Amino acid sequence: MEATKAKTHPQEAEARVIRRRPFKGGIFLLRLKTDPPLGLIQPGQFVMLRGEGLDPLLPRPFSVHDQEGNYLDLLIQPRGRFTRYLSQIRHGERLILVGPLGRGFPQPEKKKPPFLLVAGGIGVAPFGLWLKMFGPAPLIYGARSRQDLIRLSFWKALARPLILTTEDGSLGQRALVTSPLQEALKKGPRTILACGPTPMLAAVARLAQETNSPAYISLEAQMACGTGLCLGCAVKARPGGYLHVCQEGPVVLAEEVEFD
Ligand SMILES: Cc1cc2nc3c(=O)[nH]c(=O)nc-3n(C[C@H](O)[C@H](O)[C@H](O)COP(=O)(O)OP(=O)(O)OC[C@H]3O[C@@H](n4cnc5c(N)ncnc54)[C@H](O)[C@@H]3O)c2cc1C
Ligand code: FES
Repeated sequence: MEATKAKTHPQEAEARVIRRRPFKGGIFLLRLKTDPPLGLIQPGQFVMLRGEGLDPLLPRPFSVHDQEGNYLDLLIQPRGRFTRYLSQIRHGERLILVGPLGRGFPQPEKKKPPFLLVAGGIGVAPFGLWLKMFGPAPLIYGARSRQDLIRLSFWKALARPLILTTEDGSLGQRALVTSPLQEALKKGPRTILACGPTPMLAAVARLAQETNSPAYISLEAQMACGTGLCLGCAVKARPGGYLHVCQEGPVVLAEEVEFD
């Protein structure tokens, strides 16, 4: 079983803003209508998005959170220039989108250990599409504080069970996501799917190795092209060389990555 390759070819599309729904901690949901429609997106694949003007010049990558027909939902955390611009964008405004890109998460298989999803912060985004497409699975979802855990009724409806953690203990267990993950792995190996900040992915990779659990992780890298041309998204690979996150990822087997 390997990370899922794209079944549709990436294409450029016009994306019109249909809805922007803000949540408490600053994260917001952006619903876009694409023309032409993108075809079926694999959970974990991403799109490159930019405005119609030249600022910022380079497009930015975002995981697809949900898809219905030619509507796409993205979950976005404001970080810098472009995401702040998106946090103010109005209904009807247009963006340029290229996608779907990269390799997504694998789907459940009878021969493999049961699936367990692990999300840190905005890393929860791709699991909306995964749970909708492949059905319920346990989801461990953690963040710093309760305001950063968003769409809880959405996750409750899709994940079985939903285990929440916060670093300040304001909701769910006061712990990092690796703590309930470690507990779950005591019952036997699981096929882990994880998305979140790099230190979290490194900790997940260690736990997976200790318990002989296959782990598929969605890597974060800054991207300039998203299509294998600029080589800007390289991360160190094991046993040597580099992986290009936009082409060989973003979802890769944890054992293929060299975490420093
Ligand atoms: C495959 C993939 C999927 C992603 N999915 C989502 C998503 O669903 N929702 C979401 O909110 N974000 C997602 N991101 C991150 C998103 O692409 C960045 O937050 C965005 O590019 C920031 O653009 P900006 O212009 O707002 O910030 P910039 O001004 O470009 O950067 C602001 C700060 O964020 C840092 N930064 C920018 N991009 C990254 C990155 N990729 N990794 C680590 N640090 C970064 C910069 O170093 C800088 O410190 C994803 C990234 C990748 C690679
Ligand atoms: S982003 Fe350009 S090669 Fe990956």
